[in-house]
Amino acid sequence: MPVPRDSSSQSGASPAIGPAEIAALVEPDRVHRRAYTDRAVFDLEMARIFGRAWIFVAHASQIPRPNDLIRTRLGLHDVLATRDGDGRVHVVGNRCTHRGTTLCSVERASAASLVCPYHAWTFGLDGTLRSVPHRKSMPDSFDIADPRLTLFRAPRVADYRGFVFASLAADGPGLEEFLGDMTEALDNLVDRAPDGEIFQDGGIFRLEYRGNWKLHHENANDTMHPGFVHESSVNAAREDGRDYAEPVYDEHQAHTQLLSNGFSVREWQSLGLKGLANGHSYMDGFYSQGVLSPDRDDPLSRDYRAALEAAKGRAAADAILGMDRFNNLIWPNLNINAQYQQIRIVQPVAPDRTIVQAMCFRLGGAPEGMFHRAVRFLTNLSSPASMIFADDVEIFEKVQAGLADGSREWLDQSRGHDAPVDAGAGGGGAGNGRLASPGTSELPIRGQFRAWLDYMTA
Ligand code: FES
Ligand SMILES: [Fe+2]
Repeated sequence: MPVPRDSSSQSGASPAIGPAEIAALVEPDRVHRRAYTDRAVFDLEMARIFGRAWIFVAHASQIPRPNDLIRTRLGLHDVLATRDGDGRVHVVGNRCTHRGTTLCSVERASAASLVCPYHAWTFGLDGTLRSVPHRKSMPDSFDIADPRLTLFRAPRVADYRGFVFASLAADGPGLEEFLGDMTEALDNLVDRAPDGEIFQDGGIFRLEYRGNWKLHHENANDTMHPGFVHESSVNAAREDGRDYAEPVYDEHQAHTQLLSNGFSVREWQSLGLKGLANGHSYMDGFYSQGVLSPDRDDPLSRDYRAALEAAKGRAAADAILGMDRFNNLIWPNLNINAQYQQIRIVQPVAPDRTIVQAMCFRLGGAPEGMFHRAVRFLTNLSSPASMIFADDVEIFEKVQAGLADGSREWLDQSRGHDAPVDAGAGGGGAGNGRLASPGTSELPIRGQFRAWLDYMTA
């Protein structure tokens, strides 16, 4: 089937694109560059993927008290996740219904109402219009209770163990059905707290790159890149002559993190990559392989394990700490790293612009040092000045530049395509929908594009 010509990636109006054209962009082992560069494709992604899937918007601990709110994005919408005076959580548009002004310009606030900075129309945190100045000058037909004057509201908002997701679709699979077995990753992050609660803390890194949003997800479980993309920091860590043998784990975390990208291809190959329905995926066995093993016997780890065992018992603590998964990707916008209490949120802006937010959590009931370890990990891995993430971002921009040029039509995603795939693997037993492949396979990328096609053509 011929692939239609590009529409501009920057012009405002973009022609509609039909299911047959979309289907022609994805083959089993390659994908057309238009999936990354074309404004019409991007617009359809926003309607069909970010307009239908469950999108992570906030953690409950970011809006702990009545009248708390946090600003975030739902697809291309600027939205606020709010907790009203009765404790209920809403996701409302950050756009005044009078003339469209942005209501809240800060990232986080506590306020009983939202007052527009232009003409002071005032809204409740549930989005309803509460008051309008100089009401008597409005026409008799003006009805403050008119639903058209209520802020845009996400039709569905749901919470899984404190992780708040919203969907722009009024109907569709429920949140737990959408998450499938990825609930295990969220459970594991929360269960690592001895007292069962986690709290987002310590600020949020925010980085914008000049590349498509899918590039971030494709890179997450691509084990063939670290040895090349992160070579300079791996080499620097290797050349560091200091003796890090003593188990003072926290102080040497940056060193061990940098080294972990230096696995041999054989070591990467021995990891398991798991692909699930809806484009979700994760990497199995990363920490047990190397320097980031959870079995490190340093004083902080011992204290933490003791607190967890005291709260939950030895067997449960073993199971919780033994879950060894890296980059739990809940496609299309959340990436979880439970071992170090990290998440990243991916927010598309344009075909060639994406925002990534990265943050970490405090484990309730754990020694304070565990939070410092999480902050250190976050800073090392995900800050704009990270020696690791900065490399990845540079590559995303190089890929985007290469695709925009137009001389290369197709991206290859065939690695491991012919290798046997183990269906039902991964701990949940046969029939759980998990596909497993050796660590160097591009199975997660192919899985993302299967989900992409399902959303885009349904
Ligand atoms: S634009 Fe908000 S009150 Fe006028
Ligand atoms: Fe990387």
